[in-house]
Amino acid sequence: MATSFAKFLFILVAISFHVKTLSAARVISTPKTNIEFIRTSCSTTTYPKLCYSSLSVEASKIQNSPKLLANAALNVTLASARSTSIMMQKLSQSHGMKPMEVSAMQDCVEELSDTVDELRKSIDEMGKTKGSNTQLMINDIQTWVSAALTDESTCSEGFAGNSMNGNVKSAVRGLILNIAHLTSNALALINNYASLHG
Ligand SMILES: *[C@@H]1O[C@H](CO)[C@@H](O)[C@H](O)[C@H]1NC(C)=O
Repeated sequence: MATSFAKFLFILVAISFHVKTLSAARVISTPKTNIEFIRTSCSTTTYPKLCYSSLSVEASKIQNSPKLLANAALNVTLASARSTSIMMQKLSQSHGMKPMEVSAMQDCVEELSDTVDELRKSIDEMGKTKGSNTQLMINDIQTWVSAALTDESTCSEGFAGNSMNGNVKSAVRGLILNIAHLTSNALALINNYASLHG
Protein backbone atom coordinates (compact mmCIF):
# COMPACT_ATOMS: atom_id res chain seq x y z
CA MET A 1 0.00 0.00 0.00
CA ALA A 2 1.42 3.37 -0.98
CA THR A 3 1.53 5.99 1.73
CA SER A 4 0.54 9.55 0.96
CA PHE A 5 3.13 12.21 1.49
CA ALA A 6 1.06 14.06 4.11
CA LYS A 7 0.67 10.88 6.13
CA PHE A 8 4.39 10.27 5.88
CA LEU A 9 5.20 13.75 7.19
CA PHE A 10 2.75 13.29 10.07
CA ILE A 11 4.36 9.98 11.06
CA LEU A 12 7.78 11.60 10.85
CA VAL A 13 6.87 14.43 13.21
CA ALA A 14 5.15 12.00 15.60
CA ILE A 15 8.24 9.76 15.72
CA SER A 16 10.68 12.57 16.38
CA PHE A 17 8.44 13.95 19.15
CA HIS A 18 8.19 10.51 20.75
CA VAL A 19 11.98 10.02 20.63
CA LYS A 20 12.59 13.38 22.31
CA THR A 21 10.12 12.74 25.15
CA LEU A 22 11.57 9.28 25.69
CA SER A 23 15.13 10.63 25.97
CA ALA A 24 14.15 13.30 28.46
CA ALA A 25 12.41 10.76 30.69
CA ARG A 26 15.24 8.23 30.82
CA VAL A 27 18.09 10.63 31.57
CA ILE A 28 16.80 11.41 35.07
CA SER A 29 17.71 8.04 36.60
CA THR A 30 21.36 8.02 35.44
CA PRO A 31 24.39 8.82 37.68
CA LYS A 32 25.55 12.41 37.28
CA THR A 33 29.21 11.62 36.48
CA ASN A 34 28.21 9.48 33.48
CA ILE A 35 26.04 12.30 32.18
CA GLU A 36 28.88 14.79 32.70
CA PHE A 37 31.30 12.57 30.77
CA ILE A 38 28.91 12.55 27.81
CA ARG A 39 28.32 16.30 28.01
CA THR A 40 32.07 17.03 28.08
CA SER A 41 32.87 14.60 25.26
CA CYS A 42 29.99 15.91 23.16
CA SER A 43 31.25 19.48 23.54
CA THR A 44 34.20 18.54 21.26
CA THR A 45 31.86 17.48 18.41
CA THR A 46 30.43 19.73 15.70
CA TYR A 47 26.81 19.18 16.83
CA PRO A 48 27.06 19.00 20.64
CA LYS A 49 23.31 19.30 21.35
CA LEU A 50 22.41 16.46 19.01
CA CYS A 51 25.32 14.45 20.40
CA TYR A 52 24.12 14.91 23.97
CA SER A 53 20.44 14.29 23.25
CA SER A 54 21.13 11.14 21.24
CA LEU A 55 23.70 9.63 23.64
CA SER A 56 22.67 10.65 27.16
CA VAL A 57 19.95 7.96 27.05
CA GLU A 58 22.77 5.40 26.87
CA ALA A 59 24.74 6.96 29.75
CA SER A 60 24.51 3.99 32.10
CA LYS A 61 25.88 1.70 29.37
CA ILE A 62 28.64 4.12 28.28
CA GLN A 63 29.79 5.06 31.81
CA ASN A 64 33.16 6.84 31.38
CA SER A 65 34.50 4.90 28.42
CA PRO A 66 35.54 6.77 25.22
CA LYS A 67 35.34 3.47 23.37
CA LEU A 68 31.79 2.69 24.49
CA LEU A 69 30.82 6.28 23.73
CA ALA A 70 32.11 5.99 20.15
CA ASN A 71 30.39 2.62 19.89
CA ALA A 72 27.08 4.02 21.12
CA ALA A 73 27.38 6.92 18.64
CA LEU A 74 27.83 4.41 15.82
CA ASN A 75 24.83 2.42 17.09
CA VAL A 76 22.60 5.49 17.15
CA THR A 77 23.73 6.53 13.67
CA LEU A 78 23.13 3.04 12.30
CA ALA A 79 19.62 2.89 13.78
CA SER A 80 18.81 6.28 12.29
CA ALA A 81 20.21 5.38 8.85
CA ARG A 82 18.19 2.15 8.89
CA SER A 83 14.88 3.77 9.78
CA THR A 84 15.43 6.62 7.31
CA SER A 85 16.19 4.08 4.60
CA ILE A 86 12.86 2.35 5.29
CA MET A 87 10.99 5.69 5.26
CA MET A 88 12.61 6.69 1.97
CA GLN A 89 11.65 3.37 0.45
CA LYS A 90 8.03 4.00 1.44
CA LEU A 91 8.18 7.61 0.34
CA SER A 92 9.46 6.59 -3.10
CA GLN A 93 6.21 4.60 -3.52
CA SER A 94 3.91 7.41 -2.39
CA HIS A 95 1.38 9.11 -4.65
CA GLY A 96 2.12 12.15 -6.72
CA MET A 97 5.89 11.95 -6.97
CA LYS A 98 7.57 12.96 -10.20
CA PRO A 99 9.67 10.30 -11.96
CA MET A 100 12.72 12.45 -11.27
CA GLU A 101 11.95 12.49 -7.54
CA VAL A 102 11.32 8.75 -7.49
CA SER A 103 14.65 8.17 -9.18
CA ALA A 104 16.53 10.46 -6.77
CA MET A 105 14.77 8.69 -3.91
CA GLN A 106 15.82 5.27 -5.20
CA ASP A 107 19.44 6.49 -5.52
CA CYS A 108 19.25 7.64 -1.92
CA VAL A 109 17.96 4.27 -0.76
CA GLU A 110 21.08 2.72 -2.41
CA GLU A 111 23.38 5.25 -0.77
CA LEU A 112 21.73 4.72 2.61
CA SER A 113 22.16 0.98 2.20
CA ASP A 114 25.90 1.57 1.63
CA THR A 115 25.93 3.82 4.69
CA VAL A 116 24.29 1.06 6.76
CA ASP A 117 26.92 -1.46 5.56
CA GLU A 118 29.79 0.89 6.39
CA LEU A 119 28.42 1.61 9.86
CA ARG A 120 27.77 -2.06 10.55
CA LYS A 121 31.34 -2.98 9.52
CA SER A 122 32.64 -0.21 11.79
CA ILE A 123 30.61 -1.49 14.77
CA ASP A 124 31.86 -5.06 14.16
CA GLU A 125 35.46 -3.83 13.99
CA MET A 126 35.00 -1.70 17.09
CA GLY A 127 34.04 -4.86 18.96
CA LYS A 128 37.33 -6.50 17.93
CA THR A 129 39.77 -3.69 18.79
CA LYS A 130 42.30 -5.00 21.24
CA GLY A 131 46.02 -4.52 21.95
CA SER A 132 48.52 -3.82 19.17
CA ASN A 133 46.00 -3.92 16.33
CA THR A 134 43.84 -1.16 17.75
CA GLN A 135 45.36 1.70 15.72
CA LEU A 136 45.03 -0.20 12.43
CA MET A 137 41.42 -1.10 13.17
CA ILE A 138 40.59 2.47 14.10
CA ASN A 139 42.06 3.58 10.75
CA ASP A 140 39.65 1.21 8.98
CA ILE A 141 36.73 2.51 11.04
CA GLN A 142 37.66 6.14 10.25
CA THR A 143 37.78 5.27 6.54
CA TRP A 144 34.36 3.57 6.58
CA VAL A 145 32.64 6.28 8.59
CA SER A 146 34.07 8.94 6.25
CA ALA A 147 32.75 6.92 3.30
CA ALA A 148 29.32 6.89 4.97
CA LEU A 149 29.44 10.71 5.20
CA THR A 150 30.24 10.89 1.48
CA ASP A 151 27.31 8.60 0.60
CA GLU A 152 24.97 10.78 2.67
CA SER A 153 26.09 13.95 0.92
CA THR A 154 25.67 12.27 -2.49
CA CYS A 155 22.08 11.45 -1.52
CA SER A 156 21.45 15.02 -0.45
CA GLU A 157 22.91 16.42 -3.68
CA GLY A 158 20.41 14.30 -5.64
CA PHE A 159 17.72 16.54 -4.14
CA ALA A 160 19.32 19.85 -4.96
CA GLY A 161 17.50 20.35 -8.32
CA ASN A 162 15.02 23.21 -8.67
CA SER A 163 12.47 21.07 -10.47
CA MET A 164 11.82 19.00 -7.34
CA ASN A 165 8.77 19.48 -5.15
CA GLY A 166 9.79 21.80 -2.30
CA ASN A 167 8.19 19.65 0.44
CA VAL A 168 9.78 16.44 -0.75
CA LYS A 169 13.10 18.18 -1.11
CA SER A 170 13.14 19.68 2.36
CA ALA A 171 11.79 16.52 4.05
CA VAL A 172 14.49 14.35 2.47
CA ARG A 173 17.27 16.84 3.04
CA GLY A 174 16.19 17.21 6.69
CA LEU A 175 16.30 13.45 7.25
CA ILE A 176 19.68 13.07 5.57
CA LEU A 177 21.13 16.08 7.35
CA ASN A 178 20.21 14.51 10.68
CA ILE A 179 22.05 11.30 9.76
CA ALA A 180 25.01 13.27 8.44
CA HIS A 181 25.25 15.20 11.72
CA LEU A 182 25.04 11.97 13.75
CA THR A 183 27.74 10.47 11.51
CA SER A 184 29.97 13.52 11.85
CA ASN A 185 29.62 13.34 15.65
CA ALA A 186 30.38 9.61 15.66
CA LEU A 187 33.53 10.30 13.64
CA ALA A 188 34.63 13.00 16.11
CA LEU A 189 34.10 10.59 19.04
CA ILE A 190 36.03 7.86 17.18
CA ASN A 191 38.85 10.38 16.65
CA ASN A 192 38.79 11.16 20.39
CA TYR A 193 39.06 7.48 21.17
CA ALA A 194 41.85 7.11 18.54
CA SER A 195 43.87 9.94 20.10
CA LEU A 196 44.15 7.85 23.28
CA HIS A 197 45.97 5.19 21.24
CA GLY A 198 48.27 7.48 19.22
C1 LIG B 1 25.67 -1.24 20.34
O1 LIG B 1 24.80 -2.17 19.76
C2 LIG B 1 25.13 -3.52 20.06
C3 LIG B 1 24.28 -4.43 19.19
O2 LIG B 1 22.97 -4.01 19.11
C4 LIG B 1 24.95 -3.75 21.55
O3 LIG B 1 25.24 -5.08 21.89
C5 LIG B 1 25.88 -2.83 22.29
O4 LIG B 1 25.69 -2.94 23.68
C6 LIG B 1 25.66 -1.37 21.87
N1 LIG B 1 26.73 -0.58 22.48
C7 LIG B 1 26.51 0.56 23.13
C8 LIG B 1 27.69 1.18 23.77
O5 LIG B 1 25.43 1.09 23.19
